[in-house]
Amino acid sequence: MIQLIELHVNGVRHDLVIEPRRTLVDVLRHDLGLTGTHVGCEHGICGACTVLVDGQPARACLMFAVQCEHADIRTVESLADADGSLNDLQQCFVEHHGLQCGFCTPGMLMLAEGYLADEPDATKEEIREVVAANLCRCTGYQTIVEAIDDCAGRRRAALQEILDGSST
Ligand code: FES
Ligand code: FES
Repeated sequence: MIQLIELHVNGVRHDLVIEPRRTLVDVLRHDLGLTGTHVGCEHGICGACTVLVDGQPARACLMFAVQCEHADIRTVESLADADGSLNDLQQCFVEHHGLQCGFCTPGMLMLAEGYLADEPDATKEEIREVVAANLCRCTGYQTIVEAIDDCAGRRRAALQEILDGSST
């Protein structure tokens, strides 16, 4: 059996004919060529496949693509600018050496991006708890936590600057 579905990924609409049994991560990688989303365990354990579905981090290996019809899906490819410039979170990962082999990195970035959007005032301890949801075999997590915490601080400072500017 096949089904026609409409997926909205990184702001682009895709009309796809797929089998309902196919996972979101499979469709993202193989039908849309968005290979930044990685596949590790395929059992919901490692978090390498994390994407944002309507703003919330989700394990794309545990979702059927047909479940996501009309949802707003964001993958790691949405973070950088069109010219390839990294966004602030990616830049913080670079500066703090928040990656080694990089296999977990797309999932870590999307987990953090979704989390900081909801919790801009997150403490380092809270960030540590959140990243524990995804597995990293290389970094020991410390540098990932530092990177996310630094990014949160930079975003708060930028917001404060805007608020200060608008009140003068
Ligand atoms: S590949 Fe999805 S959680 Fe591991
Ligand atoms: S950087 Fe290698 S698994 Fe995290």
